[in-house]
Amino acid sequence: MKYYEVIFLEEILFYLKKIVKRLNTEHRIKHIMGVAYTAKILAEKYNENEIKAEIAALGHDLFRDVKPYKFLKIAKVYGIDISYVEEKNPILLHGKIAAEYLKREYEIPNDIYEAIYYHTSGYKYFNNIGKILFISDSIEPTRNYDNVEYFRNIANIDLDLAYKEILKNKIIFALNKEHYLLKETIDAWNYNINK
Ligand SMILES: [Fe+2]
Ligand SMILES: [Fe+2]
Repeated sequence: MKYYEVIFLEEILFYLKKIVKRLNTEHRIKHIMGVAYTAKILAEKYNENEIKAEIAALGHDLFRDVKPYKFLKIAKVYGIDISYVEEKNPILLHGKIAAEYLKREYEIPNDIYEAIYYHTSGYKYFNNIGKILFISDSIEPTRNYDNVEYFRNIANIDLDLAYKEILKNKIIFALNKEHYLLKETIDAWNYNINK
């Protein structure tokens, strides 16, 4: 990576750290910092750019606690295509909105944009930064649910397998709870099942 690219990323990181500190939900800050911690470890393990992983982590849930009625309004302003499922459950738009915001404000690189944009659903074409964010979001230190240790263990061994297993777990969870499934999630599953 070129010197000026590193400086550019360091600058985004600097501003994002300030924004995260100003969020008004204590548990959200803890979660975001936990995701950043885990994402950096995974980036180092899998030879990915640690600054990019940290930026993706710090940015992914910036809009998570916005009042629900605002999601649809902001999404429309950003020109995001709102699916039937997102219209029914607008909080699912928080990743897409964060990605669009960070693209406009800080010109984040495309791999970070995609990682944040699809962090809720998964994505059929995820690169490693996307996989690292998706996995870190589910296994960061404050997460506590059945099987979390299993996912932490696989994340240490095989990034692709951890991505697939966490995606599968999310789908099973959604079906058991009779929650909506995003189309992107189904596509991500279909494209990754044979890998
Ligand atoms: Fe999120
Ligand atoms: Fe998150």
